[in-house]
Amino acid sequence: MKQPADFWDALAPFHSAIENNYFDLPSLHHIRSELREPVLVVGAGQGLIVAELQSKGFQCDGVDFSAEMVRRARSRRGIILIQADASAMPLGDATYETIIYATGVIDFNSDENAIRCILREGQRVVKPGGKMFVAFYRLSPALESFLTKLGLLSGNVVLHRRSLETYLLTGPQMFRWVMKNSGTGWLGAAALMLRLATFGTIREKATTLKMQRIVRKMKDPRAFIQAASETQPYRNEVEIRKLFDRLNIPIQELRTLATCWIARATPAASVGPVASNCPAPEREKPEQSH
Ligand SMILES: C[S@@+](CC[C@H](N)C(=O)[O-])C[C@H]1O[C@@H](n2cnc3c(N)ncnc32)[C@H](O)[C@@H]1O
Repeated sequence: MKQPADFWDALAPFHSAIENNYFDLPSLHHIRSELREPVLVVGAGQGLIVAELQSKGFQCDGVDFSAEMVRRARSRRGIILIQADASAMPLGDATYETIIYATGVIDFNSDENAIRCILREGQRVVKPGGKMFVAFYRLSPALESFLTKLGLLSGNVVLHRRSLETYLLTGPQMFRWVMKNSGTGWLGAAALMLRLATFGTIREKATTLKMQRIVRKMKDPRAFIQAASETQPYRNEVEIRKLFDRLNIPIQELRTLATCWIARATPAASVGPVASNCPAPEREKPEQSH
């Protein structure tokens, strides 16, 4: 049975091409003046954000559950990340002043019990009076509208696997696919694709091209697609606020940036109702950079 980290392990050899995405370096710079060290980045990938903060003089650690991501953070950047699931981190209570949840951790997760466990763990690890920033990926209105018209985005849910499958299509196949799924003729399909090409962001277009190359380069792209979750939430501002309301965590601020939303949550509030099946945190402390 596939594990949640399998998808990220399979993506890891290609991740360097697309790592500066969603909660990216420009997004980090928006919150930089509010960060107090030590900082913990949860979902640290191959250490892009950790390396950037360390280069600016911050004491910063990173956690990631993908063995391949952790291995490549070390070989590419010489960064030793802590390999652990965000819901049971081998870190002491009240260790960090700031926790940043990168995109890919909370926002890709549709299981609210799992989110509760992850945020409860963050509350344990953050110091009293510390800060928790939670990033949520954001699409351009043009891409949102394109995905909606093709039935890939509906009711704040993205058909993740089906979206990944489109990267395997050639240009003509994609055109026919758009025609079929939008229920329009060739003129309608051409208009849809032209609108996306005109109003989609340069970053999104570049990422699409990179993802097409990545998926075609994979030895077994079908296995990668199968390792992805079938669906993925897409939470806009309203949905993010509703999520935190259900979790009973007040948000001090919800910032809208070009490629993500960042919620600043109150660590002190309890994450209720209690999630019964959260894993127990591992208590022993691993090798860390501070
Ligand atoms: C989009 S990537 C982060 C990229 C990031 N911008 C960077 O600094 O390179 C998301 C990462 O979160 C990790 N992740 C997702 N869920 C996690 C969890 N429950 N516990 C630990 N890591 C998790 C994945 O393994 C992946 O490496």
